[in-house]
Amino acid sequence: MYSFNELALKFNEYFDKRHFPESPQNLYDPAQYILQIGGKRVRPVCVLMGNELFDEIDPDAYHVATAIELFHNFSLIHDDIMDKAPLRRGVQTVHSKYGESTALLAGDVMMVQAYDSLNQIKPLHLQTILYHFNKSAKEVCEGQQLDMDFEQRSNVSMEEYVNMVTLKTSVLLAGSMQVGAILGGAGEGNQQHLYNFGKNLGIAFQVQDDYLDAFGDPEKFGKQLGGDILSNKKTFLLIQALDIATATQKNELELLLSSSPEDKVGRVLQIFRDCKIDQWATELKERYFHDALQNLDDVAVLSSRKKELRELAEYLLQRES
Ligand code: IPE
Ligand code: IPE
Ligand code: MG
Ligand code: MG
Ligand code: MG
Repeated sequence: MYSFNELALKFNEYFDKRHFPESPQNLYDPAQYILQIGGKRVRPVCVLMGNELFDEIDPDAYHVATAIELFHNFSLIHDDIMDKAPLRRGVQTVHSKYGESTALLAGDVMMVQAYDSLNQIKPLHLQTILYHFNKSAKEVCEGQQLDMDFEQRSNVSMEEYVNMVTLKTSVLLAGSMQVGAILGGAGEGNQQHLYNFGKNLGIAFQVQDDYLDAFGDPEKFGKQLGGDILSNKKTFLLIQALDIATATQKNELELLLSSSPEDKVGRVLQIFRDCKIDQWATELKERYFHDALQNLDDVAVLSSRKKELRELAEYLLQRES
């Protein structure tokens, strides 16, 4: 069984090429740009690990992993427009470098390219994998819309937050594991357990993402620190702070949300710190991590084969970028 690093390296050897024609350059260079500026390649590795848990890696797994990484990058290009984000992976976002209209189109063409990759797999699994791919892709769009809707609301509950992040983030990790398992010939029960593993892991992954957005190390993070605060994102940090803050802190938070003073990020962060939200983040992550490990335990294969998936889970929750 391969480790995360080994599989990420294998995938990158396969993926590290130009995916688009040369011309028109103003469309395809921006699309290629985001693929070349890095990325952890977590979802493709989830496909490969989900596959290897049940059988030797099927060459089709690389096509599916490519499709999912392309879909993920498409979603990032569009997400950065929605979130008005200037930085990704330590460099300019596609829309800030090339303009919004080009970024939209580069995202669109990348999504179509993802289907070209899927279309390479053997007919045996094509319909099933297409079904799961489309299901996750639609759910990501639903989650992204809820994420934007919540910017305008002040009373988002933790339950609504968990539902939103499950859609925008978790289902793609979960779906990646599941399609890998399908290629490995896993039965329905095992597929479901692995899907649930990815789902709980994905929630913890987004908790870490939100945590880093507020408290990350600017040298390592690669995105604009405090971006979520600036766009009034209803992250778990804000929801929890609003829930446990004193009346004075709550008033200040609400004032900061309804205005945009220059020192907004610093002042919100101070309230987060005073409410010990950073410690609470660790507890929240651990809860989902624990549930994820139980789902993994339920998968009926030898426990020794699951070591790399457990390590992947640990890595995803400790990551700094
Ligand atoms: C970022 O995903 C978007 C989220 C779902 C939080 P990653 O953290 O996997 O981004 P890259 O691909 O490694 O840059
Ligand atoms: C984005 O969540 C999830 C998707 C791209 C679908 P975020 O907006 O938190 O992701 P980052 O922080 O920009 O990577
Ligand atoms: Mg974003
Ligand atoms: Mg977003
Ligand atoms: Mg984020």
